Amino acid sequence: MADSRAIGIFDSGLGGLTVAREVISRLPNEDVVYFGDTGRVPYGSRSRETIKKYASQDERFLLKHNVKLIIAACGTVSSVAADAAKDLPVPYFEMVTHAAKAAVSATKSGKIGVIGTAATVGSGSHKREILKLLPDAEVTACSCSLFVPLVEVGWYSADDIVVKETVKRYLTPIINAGCDTLILGCTHYPVLQSVIGEVLGDNVTLINPGIAVASAVKDFLISNGTSNENGFSGNHEFFVTDKPDSFKTLAAVLLGEKINEDKVKQVELDSL
Ligand code: DGL
Repeated sequence: MADSRAIGIFDSGLGGLTVAREVISRLPNEDVVYFGDTGRVPYGSRSRETIKKYASQDERFLLKHNVKLIIAACGTVSSVAADAAKDLPVPYFEMVTHAAKAAVSATKSGKIGVIGTAATVGSGSHKREILKLLPDAEVTACSCSLFVPLVEVGWYSADDIVVKETVKRYLTPIINAGCDTLILGCTHYPVLQSVIGEVLGDNVTLINPGIAVASAVKDFLISNGTSNENGFSGNHEFFVTDKPDSFKTLAAVLLGEKINEDKVKQVELDSL
């Protein structure tokens, strides 16, 4: 039976809009509730305990909105706090397993690179998932701490020498390892996809986990008969924990569309 409840998506901030973008483009009939914890971003430099605590508060917020499933769009949460979600009363989708699957089917050499936040890389989550699927894989992971701030200040053009040199420097271990596939293991990295592609060249396949997860969610809803009915145009609501001022500018970059102010609401941490 069709299920008209919304899809819940959460992230440490606005980066998860890159995942929402893939979900919305593949599932235009679905309502989406997006929660970005902009008051506490970044998660990527925090401890495992703190990330787990924040993630379960974020999940509770979405459950209060009666969502039919939850997507942890945040690479960091997906890497260090996915096990804390096992008792959720609704299906849960994280980014790591789906990205690993996509990378394993794309690689020819078995040399797979992973980039993400310090917490994501430190967790070894992608390597674990890749090795389950391809035990002989050689995984090279590196954290790219400056990528998130670059995107947030609007520096992501492939023509920008500073951006290009920064990307080159961070990706040197991936180039040296001869990877033929690279997982963009953080919400913001798909925005840098064209410069990353230029630096690595055409022979390296870039994996956007948002695409992998959005496709998995679509398959799940169809196979369970719980997708929303055709002809229904999905409603999208956005909640943040800090002033929504920067939302409009960043949403245009990350989500790929402009959002009306009335769609974005600030919520108090106390109410989480
Ligand atoms: N959303 C985070 C991720 O995908 C990046 C920003 C942060 O560190 O919170 O890992």
